[in-house]
Amino acid sequence: MPDLPEIPPARAIDAAALPAWRIDTGALRRALDGGPAHAWQVEVVEETGSTNADLMQACRQAPWDDEAARVRVAYRQTAGRGRQGRPWQGQAGLTFSVAMPLALAPARLSGLSLAVGLAVAQALEDCDAACGPRVGLKWPNDLQIDGRKLAGILIESVPAGPQRLWAVIGIGLNLVRDARMEAALGRDLAGVAETMAAFDAQRDPTRILGAVLNRLAGMRAVFLEQGFAPLAPAWSSRDAFRNEPVRLLHDGQVLAEGLARGVDSDGHLLLETADGLQRITSGEVSLRGAGA
Ligand code: BTN
Repeated sequence: MPDLPEIPPARAIDAAALPAWRIDTGALRRALDGGPAHAWQVEVVEETGSTNADLMQACRQAPWDDEAARVRVAYRQTAGRGRQGRPWQGQAGLTFSVAMPLALAPARLSGLSLAVGLAVAQALEDCDAACGPRVGLKWPNDLQIDGRKLAGILIESVPAGPQRLWAVIGIGLNLVRDARMEAALGRDLAGVAETMAAFDAQRDPTRILGAVLNRLAGMRAVFLEQGFAPLAPAWSSRDAFRNEPVRLLHDGQVLAEGLARGVDSDGHLLLETADGLQRITSGEVSLRGAGA
């Protein structure tokens, strides 16, 4: 008899049971003050189309300022965007974007999406040490628990001159499982509430957002100086697919298959195939366990 799939922990709360929650902007400010994201401006809106689209538009008009990172959080997105053209509703989670000024040429963005995923995973561990070991990273930038998607990241960019760009980093982080979103994405989802010893829907979204922003600001400083290379060991320690058989997919088509052999210092996936080791650059590909 084949192994039965793992049963989600009994604590998992479904979206319908998530109490109404709001970001406590005063508490958020206190969490940022004195930390690496202290100068970041945060705005919270009830509803928008897409926080990424909003900040992309704002960045096209904004004067360049090395330190002027801007954060936009929305409780509801009516046209939230995921990778590969998929929608992202995210009603049962934190949905926000950061417009991050980076004095870098586009070629130096390699590995940024991995660095962002790592920062989110580390932030969850900052909030609750019990989260740490359970949160895995799936190349290039999904967070997952037991193979279920916990968070997705969409990075877009706006050029702002030679060696300057705005990276618009959109993050959808599930607080609880959302059956409607599972159906829309065709994937099993996880929620932060499952990983925390005592998830508090009134307090924890603000704590998590503050921790993520501080981690992102810390990551930014490292990335600007040295790129992804110094972050690669920490990313690898959370690599959910290391040494696993995987397929790379695009639009449902299998592009390559082999054994995932981790990432290099630029954040490229190392795939051991029948034709030898291939370096897969970040892009429109998805990774699935070969048995999936
Ligand atoms: C994925 O497909 O895995 C990436 C999902 C990214 C969703 C976030 S939610 C906040 C931000 N605004 C968007 O429209 N998309 C991103």
